[in-house]
Amino acid sequence: MPTALVTGGAVRVGRAIVLALLEAGYRVHVHCNTSLDEARALLAEHPGGVASVLQADLCDPSARARLAAGVGDRLDLLVNSAASYEKGDFAGRCDDDLRRVLELNLVAPLSLVRHCLPALRAAEGSVINIVDLGGRHPWAGYLDHCVSKAALETATRALAVELAPLRVNAVAPGTVSWPADDRAGPGSQARARLLAKVPRGRIGSPHDVADAVRFLASAPHISGHTLVVDGGSLAGVGGSHA
Ligand SMILES: NC(=O)c1ccc[n+]([C@@H]2O[C@H](COP(=O)([O-])OP(=O)(O)OC[C@H]3O[C@@H](n4cnc5c(N)ncnc54)[C@H](OP(=O)(O)O)[C@@H]3O)[C@@H](O)[C@H]2O)c1
Repeated sequence: MPTALVTGGAVRVGRAIVLALLEAGYRVHVHCNTSLDEARALLAEHPGGVASVLQADLCDPSARARLAAGVGDRLDLLVNSAASYEKGDFAGRCDDDLRRVLELNLVAPLSLVRHCLPALRAAEGSVINIVDLGGRHPWAGYLDHCVSKAALETATRALAVELAPLRVNAVAPGTVSWPADDRAGPGSQARARLLAKVPRGRIGSPHDVADAVRFLASAPHISGHTLVVDGGSLAGVGGSHA
């Protein structure tokens, strides 16, 4: 049975990825940070499929090393989904804000790839990084986030070259779930503006991202690519966030 590690696997997009991989026959190590209850619930609901719940603050380098050690000697798939989504005007933010975002959204996934390399190589496995359409079409107020995701997308291609025959790909969602706060609440102008940019007329869902992950995980000759899951936004006006 193939095994996978999904970071941020307890909630929202990460959870949908875990469920899709379970359905595809993977045993899944579910990483979480604060959502321990949700991760344990997944374990209780899928006792044969969820291999373990591994808690780690990915901003902590030693926690990253412990997390990688927790998956054992063989790993078929690493999905880097955990990330922050910080908003703030460029002029009002500081260097430490940028460093914090880069640590979680760029350094941590790359660090995990490095730590998991022996296990990934042992299984001839692959890596999938969840990036963001904003890395290609940045929107105002999210510079640190967009830069971190653009860098992770570039790193995906660089790793595909350097680590071959290991496969390394990315999935770039447009909006697939509304922010938990009311940045684009129901009826807001921000939500209407965003929807107007999606040719399919609706945002995606976490399942749409999970389907793309499942496809890339099983595509034996695809590496160094980003699968965009955006309802056509990029093909139209470009970008889809409020
Ligand atoms: N939602 C969208 O519309 C959208 C659009 C484009 C791209 N994406 C990308 O899809 C991925 C998942 O998005 P989402 O909306 O589901 O994310 P989310 O709801 O904001 O959840 C963030 C995830 O990251 C984990 N996390 C945050 N800080 C962490 C830390 N310090 N250490 C370890 N884990 C940490 C959280 O774990 P705990 O809950 O356990 O703390 C949680 O699983 C992200 O990479 C995001 O950039 C999402």
